[in-house]
Amino acid sequence: MSSFDPRCARRPRHVAIIMDGNGRWATERSQHRCFGHVEGIRAATRTYQAAWELGIRHLTLYAFSTANFDRPADEVATIMQLLAEYARRQRSDFLARGIRLEVVGDLGRAPPATREQLVATAAATADQDAMVLTLAIAYGAREDIVTAVRALSTEARDGRIDPARIEMDDVRRHMWTRRMPDVDLMIRTGGEQRLSDFLLFESAYSELYFDAAMWPDFEGRHLEAALKWYATRERRFGNVVAAESAA
Ligand code: FPP
Repeated sequence: MSSFDPRCARRPRHVAIIMDGNGRWATERSQHRCFGHVEGIRAATRTYQAAWELGIRHLTLYAFSTANFDRPADEVATIMQLLAEYARRQRSDFLARGIRLEVVGDLGRAPPATREQLVATAAATADQDAMVLTLAIAYGAREDIVTAVRALSTEARDGRIDPARIEMDDVRRHMWTRRMPDVDLMIRTGGEQRLSDFLLFESAYSELYFDAAMWPDFEGRHLEAALKWYATRERRFGNVVAAESAA
């Protein structure tokens, strides 16, 4: 038996996941890609529940990027419908576990039903703090940064901020992601090794973990393997001596 217990080891405070591989998983089984997204929803549920059991405080899932809007209309519609159902169905489980749902992204681009269910679940769970589950929907990191730059430029033009004194936190306070801490551990499934415009600002010093498993196959044991790997990493944050952010 392994001596590793992820509940005792040095744990990441914030885990972010790029859930890749739904389409390939379905195609390998001669199914429509949307079948993979249905299974992907199940994997998302398993994963937040496993993260909750392991005491992860922040979990952020990349559910839908701005680039994903370029997919066939029926696939986009199916994913949006799945997300709406998901937000409604999981509400009671979030409440039972003390999970707060947050959403980052341009929700105005999502269909009204998806928006309404997400907003309702976020509002219902707003005062919970055992874990924060953030869904990135209609999200793109570059767009988030550009939007923040636009807002800061307006403040500067109106004389509310001195451009010479703009700090990192001024940029942050205009971002969708302003309430989340920096990412400690970034996981991508599906065998690809890239960030695909996900949390580029917040993952400046995150550890990157790539898993060949397709997202619908992702289980608690995969998350535990990532945490085990993370516990072995020496984080230096650009410094020469080992340093660690508060867990
Ligand atoms: C990635 O696989 C999946 C997506 C872009 C779609 C959205 C994710 C889900 C439905 C999972 C559940 C999410 C939540 C938050 C409940 P892909 O289609 O890019 O796969 P491929 O690379 O094999 O084509």
